[in-house]
Amino acid sequence: MRRPRVLVEPDYEALSRRAAALIDQAVREQPALVLALPTGATPVGMYAALVDLHRRTGTDWSQVTTFNLDEYAGVGPDDPESYAAYMRRHLFEHVNLHPARCHLPDGLAADPAAEAARYEAAIDAAGGIDLAVLGIGTNGHLGFNEPGSALTAATHLAELSESTWRRNFPHLAARAAMEPAVRARYRRAYTMGIGTILQARRILLLASGAGKRAILREALHGPITTQNPASLLQLHPDVTLVLDREAGAW
Ligand code: GLP
Repeated sequence: MRRPRVLVEPDYEALSRRAAALIDQAVREQPALVLALPTGATPVGMYAALVDLHRRTGTDWSQVTTFNLDEYAGVGPDDPESYAAYMRRHLFEHVNLHPARCHLPDGLAADPAAEAARYEAAIDAAGGIDLAVLGIGTNGHLGFNEPGSALTAATHLAELSESTWRRNFPHLAARAAMEPAVRARYRRAYTMGIGTILQARRILLLASGAGKRAILREALHGPITTQNPASLLQLHPDVTLVLDREAGAW
């Protein structure tokens, strides 16, 4: 088993530029690259750096295919909290990706099992994922594969843990005591499964800040356990981590 490559950068800016440079290089080497893409706060700087590289050096995204790791269920692409909106804001509107090659699960699909199967089949039809770019939750989740006694291999509809929901929607969590109805919003999401992620040919994981340090150390050096989904990355032969000093100081 090959140990993951760990790149520790001095700060968030440098981490963002390093991750973007690795992805930009992958696109240049393989113009029809199939990418899995993350959301959250961590990759925002990386997307900005990718857009900057596209503008300055003309990196051609026209043949690239993207599959997002996850999308909230029950919301459409026009909901500003949707990951479809996030991706338009941070990447899709700023590089020459072909809209037909940008994929996210359809949050409004009527039949969740059919939607999950459709997404998985679309990944297969594209030839599988060449490079999966990942973030990590403070509890070790990948996509929305939350810690638990079992993990699901394929794309599926998942329930967010209470801590993930509170972290992603602090404004709703603050209102929840007075307005119980808000607790139901953004509670479920489609996510690639752990198997979908591990089938990627290469994995690039980004993590920033001291809040990720302990779970990352456990994921890399602790036992492989469904209680820390990121620990399953130990099974993958080609993982690169790009960390800032706060996340990688152990
Ligand atoms: C979110 C996403 C994950 C992301 C993680 C970390 O809930 N579903 O794909 O990697 O949490 O987010 P952040 O970068 O904001 O810490």
